[in-house]
Amino acid sequence: MQATEAPSAAKPCCDCRVLEFLDSSIGKKVMVALAGILLCGFLVTHLAGNLLLFVGGPAFDHYAELLEANPLIPVAEAGLVVLFLLHIALSVRAKLANNAARPVAYAYGADKGARTPGSRTMTVSGSLILVFLIVHVLTVKYRVGGSRGPDLFAHLMGWFADPLYSGFYVLALVGVGLHLSHGFQSAFQTLGVNHPRYTPLIKKLGLAFALIVGLTFASMPIYFGFLGGAK
Ligand code: HEM
Repeated sequence: MQATEAPSAAKPCCDCRVLEFLDSSIGKKVMVALAGILLCGFLVTHLAGNLLLFVGGPAFDHYAELLEANPLIPVAEAGLVVLFLLHIALSVRAKLANNAARPVAYAYGADKGARTPGSRTMTVSGSLILVFLIVHVLTVKYRVGGSRGPDLFAHLMGWFADPLYSGFYVLALVGVGLHLSHGFQSAFQTLGVNHPRYTPLIKKLGLAFALIVGLTFASMPIYFGFLGGAK
């Protein structure tokens, strides 16, 4: 007589395991980290393109026209929207879940250890960046409000001439710097890059990246808005 096989426990399929992972708290953190790293890539290309503002109106407007004519740009823009939404929605969910799991705040100084100005202000800086993004995209991409001419350069200069607008940019870029100063190294830790030899280097790189990106972007409203550049 043949031995009857013991019923095997149903194994989850590969797709189900991926979905389960993505739904877990570590899975969400990994997606926040990956989206954050890709957004850093966007910031670098955006910064490089905007440096043409210092070359002058014709160079910047020519670059803007080339971008507009590129058929791949709408695809990249859609990807960017998905990345921002994913990064924001999942970090808000993680923050809420974290607060619910730890309703009583740490006693003063109890978790001071590795905390930095960047790590302490992630929610505030993230919210500031979100407000900045809404104002920024409405005013420069959809060209709502004050303009000095039809070209993008002239339009931007019209906005930078408003000290409130330029001041808000500088404030938001302090937020961007703070956010990156913690977010950059935190993303690598979440992805498991945590090694006594490399972690200090990644932290220094994160700080350098935050300073370079924050200061270079901020130099634009400061130069064109407050120092009379391009007048
Ligand atoms: C002073 C610094 C900055 C300047 C001068 C600047 C300039 C511009 C310009 C001219 C555009 C419109 C391009 C077009 O017409 O399609 C744009 C779009 C955009 N910018 Fe900035 N930008 C700055 C900082 C930032 C920062 C710090 C972020 C992110 C935190 C950012 C995120 C975006 C996004 C998401 C778009 C829309 C991209 C698209 O859908 O095409 N910008 N920016």
